[in-house]
Amino acid sequence: MKEIEKIEKSLIEKLDSAESKDALEKIRVYALGKKGLITESMRSLVQMDIEERKLFGKKINLLKEKITNLINEKRSLIEGAGLESKLKSEFLDLSLPADLELDGTVHPISQVIQEVSLIFGEMGFDIADGPDIEDDWHNFTALNIPPEHPARQMHDTFYIENSESNVSSSSSEVLRTHTSPVQVRTMVSSKPPINIIVPGRTYRSDSDQTHTPMFHQVEGLVIDEKSHMGHLKGCLVEFVKKFFNLDRVNYRFRPSYFPFTEPSAEMDIGCIREGNKIVLEGDQDWLEILGCGMVNPVVLENCGIDSEKYQGFAFGVGIDRIAMLKYGMPDLRSFFDSDLRWLRHYGFSQFDFPENTRKGSF
Ligand code: PHE
Repeated sequence: MKEIEKIEKSLIEKLDSAESKDALEKIRVYALGKKGLITESMRSLVQMDIEERKLFGKKINLLKEKITNLINEKRSLIEGAGLESKLKSEFLDLSLPADLELDGTVHPISQVIQEVSLIFGEMGFDIADGPDIEDDWHNFTALNIPPEHPARQMHDTFYIENSESNVSSSSSEVLRTHTSPVQVRTMVSSKPPINIIVPGRTYRSDSDQTHTPMFHQVEGLVIDEKSHMGHLKGCLVEFVKKFFNLDRVNYRFRPSYFPFTEPSAEMDIGCIREGNKIVLEGDQDWLEILGCGMVNPVVLENCGIDSEKYQGFAFGVGIDRIAMLKYGMPDLRSFFDSDLRWLRHYGFSQFDFPENTRKGSF
């Protein structure tokens, strides 16, 4: 019996002084390993007579349990202490003044969203938003794109799992293919006059130099009693001039088709292409930057707005596209590669006020 108490005492002493995981592991092997003290003692049971074996067996089992528990406790203690000191050494006080040497930059997309918001903000637009995962009704049906409508094929939609088999059901969910569902959300939840822009992420199953599966748009919506196509045109031309820092811009509104606007148009700006580069000048070539039109009365009615009394216009600008143009970035895919070299080169300082003063090298 003495033997067991001795083993216990010495193991506990060793455990008390263990300070690292390695030291603890050594003790574990020393006590409980194949040739460990406790394991050896258990082996000696076979030589004992039955009574002695019962008593000794019980004690040695209790000791084994006790030491195992102590080792586990000590292990979590050591790990906890490690975590605590790691947390202490990695502590970052976010309330301290920023270090100007900080490596991070503002992503061109964030910068452009701020610039766009500033320009439309000055024109009196509020900012609205909506979810990236949309239901079929907001993304399509309410926008006059009923199930089986060919316009659904224009959008290479990502359906949320279990929804694909259910394409025509209004409860199925999609990653929104445009920011237009936020038009619907706003018209359903508020009364005219409405003046909003909606910058946000959009998704389509498409990928090449000028398309990525996730991209950005800024939607615009104006609903009141008398806004007309002339207002739409004025608003967009003013936006393009301010955004690109141009006194003069060559543009054209080309008739187009969107189920949710009638009439519909696309706006192109005049440019010259020099290899990979695009210069915003002249009218040799044209680059499409947005879709727009007068809100279709069907959409107003779908959202509970009296189309006899109210009218308005809407537009959807491709943010990534205008960012590429303004800051001369030739491949859209690199926007989302998280390549630090690219981010350092094209990113903006956190302290830049998003004014439209930085000239692009198209
Ligand atoms: N939602 C359209 C698209 O993604 C753009 C658009 C918005 C067109 C608003 C007209 C009015 O292609």
